[in-house]
Formats: sequence, C-alpha cells, structure tokens
Amino acid sequence: MIQADYLAKHFKDRKRGTFKALDGVSFEARAGEVFGLLGPNGAGKTTTLRVLATVLKPTGGTARIGGVDILRDPGRVRRQIGFTSGDMGQYGRLTPLEALSFFARLNGLEGSTLKSRLHDVIDRFGIASYANTKIDKLSTGMKQKVAIARTVIHDPPVLILDEPSSGLDVPASRLIEEFILSAKQAGKCILFSTHIMEEAEYLCDRIAVVNRGRVTATGTMEELRALTGKQRLREVFLALLGLEEHAPGAVA
Ligand SMILES: Nc1ncnc2c1ncn2[C@@H]1O[C@H](COP(=O)(O)OP(=O)(O)O)[C@@H](O)[C@H]1O
Ligand SMILES: [Mg+2]
Repeated sequence: MIQADYLAKHFKDRKRGTFKALDGVSFEARAGEVFGLLGPNGAGKTTTLRVLATVLKPTGGTARIGGVDILRDPGRVRRQIGFTSGDMGQYGRLTPLEALSFFARLNGLEGSTLKSRLHDVIDRFGIASYANTKIDKLSTGMKQKVAIARTVIHDPPVLILDEPSSGLDVPASRLIEEFILSAKQAGKCILFSTHIMEEAEYLCDRIAVVNRGRVTATGTMEELRALTGKQRLREVFLALLGLEEHAPGAVA
C-alpha cells in the first residue's frame, strides 16, 4: 500500500547549511498492517510522513501509495489517505461538528452519507458531548480525537498518523490504540510514528527504526530483538541507533 523509495529531503539552513533531514528512506507497508516509524526526536519521522502525505516535496526519491506515485498524482494520493500531524493547525473557532463536516465535504461526502459518516465518527471517538463546543476550548486529548476523527471521515484505505498519542493521558491514548487496531482489522494500512518503544511493540506488525534521516533496521519486534541480541526494549532501540547502553554506574 505504501512504498517509499530512497526518499530524500534536504533543507537549507543558515546554521547547518544543507541539512539532510531524509537521506534515502525506503520501506514498504502493506494493507492490513500497522507499520511503525520508530526513532528519536529529529530522526526524520515527521518529514517522512509529510512527504508521503504530499504536504512536502521530496528532494530525491519517490513513493507510491496504493500504486499511485506521490509526485505524478498527488491529488489521487490525497484521496486515499487520512493524515494527521501534531503540528497541523485545527480551526479553533469551529466546533468539532463544523470542522468534521467541512473536511467531509472537502472529500466529496454529502447528503445522507455525510450525515451517517459524521454520526459514526462522533460516536466512535466519543466526541458527542463536545461536538458543539469551539475547538479552542477543548483539552489536548479532545482536540486529538477530533484530529483523528477528521483523518477517517472519508474512510480512506491508508492512515498516516504522526505521533498520534503524544501528549495524551492513558484513557485517551488507549482509545487511539483501539482505533488503530480496529482500522487494521478493517484491512487498512496504518503508518504511524512514535518515539516510544512500548507503543511500537504493542501496536506494530513491523517497525522501521529511523535515525538521522535513514532507516537503520526494519522488521518485526522479534526480528529486531534477534538482530541486536538484546531483550529489553530500550536496549534493542539503543543498539539499533548505534548507542549501546552502559551499565548503571559505568563511566561513559
Ligand atoms: N522546514 C524545515 N527546515 C529546516 N529543517 C527542518 C525542517 N523540518 C524539519 N527539519 C529538520 O529535519 C530533521 C528531522 O525533523 P523531523 O522530521 O521533524 O524529525 P522527527 O519527527 O523524527 O522528530 C530535524 O533536524 C529538523 O530540525
Ligand atoms: Mg516529529
């Protein structure tokens, strides 16, 4: 469903000169699969997802989503995906109901289909009690639920979620996890990013570990454990980043 081939993204920066945020990122995520991009802050996760969602143009490489090339036909790519990123602005002066209707219409829904989709997502994400409150007045968790509801309003086959549970409390992140697993049951391809190993292990069928704009390893958690010879999650992660963990009290 998602195939990324040697994606590169270079930023020109006054301090860093030409900075390679992505330096040849390749991976493949299938339908019915939860695929995780796992990496530390600054690894290039958000940049990868924004390129796939056609928000950013890659400097090099390309990707296909459902067989459609992101460079050749970004419009068709966008219709196949639901994308949400933490830094994506919400329209604070709208209510969730208004915002969701707006996005549904943008995606070509109308009439009774529109109404039933709205009802579905509002019900599923527990938004009903604040569906008519301005988004500005909602908590982080409430806003995040609205953001995710928005990505699925048109029922796309591919979901691209950037750190979907970041900043959420346990009940709210549990809801997001359940949502991801049910989307997988429905045969969707879910690509999400996280810097939390436990979350990746719990949710992902396969994981690509990203560091400094490159994929350093891809596989199931089991495969990553075997690859590093480590058991504890953080040790697996550190080993894959090329940073072995020191014993407590050891001098670095
Ligand atoms: N618009 C931009 N201009 C310059 N540098 C950027 C821009 N966007 C991201 N970067 C840099 O690219 C690197 C990867 O960022 P990002 O993809 O946001 O990482 P992650 O999501 O894994 O934390 C970081 O060093 C970041 O500073
Ligand atoms: Mg990020």
